[in-house]
Amino acid sequence: MKKKVIAYNRVEKPVLEDLQNKYDVRFFNNADTINNIDFLEFLRQTEGIIGLELPVDRELLDQAPNLKIVSNVSVGYNNLDIGELNRRNILATNTPEVLTDTVADTVFGILIATARRIPELDQFVKNGEWITEAIEPEYFGVNVHHKTLGIIGMGRIGQAIAKRAHHGFDMDILYHSRTMKPDVEEKYKATYCDLDSLLKSSDFVCLITPLTPETECLIGSRELKLMKESAIFINGSRGKTVVEKDLIKALQNGNIAAAGLDVFEKEPIKLSNPLLQMTNVVTTPHIGSSTHETELRMSEVAASNLEAGLKGEKPPNLINTSVWKE
Ligand code: NAP
Ligand code: GLV
Repeated sequence: MKKKVIAYNRVEKPVLEDLQNKYDVRFFNNADTINNIDFLEFLRQTEGIIGLELPVDRELLDQAPNLKIVSNVSVGYNNLDIGELNRRNILATNTPEVLTDTVADTVFGILIATARRIPELDQFVKNGEWITEAIEPEYFGVNVHHKTLGIIGMGRIGQAIAKRAHHGFDMDILYHSRTMKPDVEEKYKATYCDLDSLLKSSDFVCLITPLTPETECLIGSRELKLMKESAIFINGSRGKTVVEKDLIKALQNGNIAAAGLDVFEKEPIKLSNPLLQMTNVVTTPHIGSSTHETELRMSEVAASNLEAGLKGEKPPNLINTSVWKE
């Protein structure tokens, strides 16, 4: 009998079809929760889960006695309760590396779009407001090149952002992470800072850490007040690393100049959220890695992780290595 696998939210079609040839795969999406009877019934027999952002917590795991592996189609894994997975010897995997450059491109794109007000001016043109040849200075943006970029989280993606900033835009780079990175300092002329110094000195502050208990609400009103009034804040990490109501207030009060946001406290963001009324806020719907090429690669990597785990082999991108017994 074929092993049962749950595919959740997003697995690219060719990869899903290949998995369906090998396993008894059922696809569920956002609409299906722990309260869905079909989901629960299938979950009880399931040995593997592959997908995006399924909250895997104690409640779900209590209903999954046969589960061997959870394979995230993402690098972030804040949706997984690693402690509970460890306690039950269930493997957890993610998809690092294959999305790094794509996410760095997205973050840099949002940074430029915010500084140069590209979405706002796109609307200006399309609304027929461009009526004199030269636009008024009130629509000018600010330079990106030769400015100071502060990167919070100098990991894989943070370093790919630094590479673009240094080689492409002659920016001065400040960074903050748990550990210092002498190789990165040398390659991109980056300077390590404590968080407060980075916030005080940067023209652009870019947040790209994982969401963990330590980074939850890392940026709130105190931190926003430390930033320059001309600062532009970019969040590519997870919405909950920022206290969203404090960010809204800081933008309303002019504590900072603008924000570019790919992630939000609640996703999808509600239309009533004040951030969506602000012309100095650029938003995207959590699309850091969302290109055809990269999403396919992520699904392929996640499928390899899943298949290894189901065969009893060590998956290439095992997160909770402590549960692996050779
Ligand atoms: P990574 O290589 O593990 O890098 C994470 C970095 O964050 C590391 O440099 C780490 O510091 C730093 N960090 C962790 N906790 C910290 C703390 N408390 N204070 C300061 N720095 C801290 O991960 P990655 O591949 O770059 O991905 C980073 C995150 O980006 C993901 O976890 C995910 O949340 C987010 N992401 C978002 C999208 C999107 O679509 N918007 C796409 C992909 C990823 P050390 O190096 O010192 O340990
Ligand atoms: C996307 O947000 C990821 O973590 O890969």
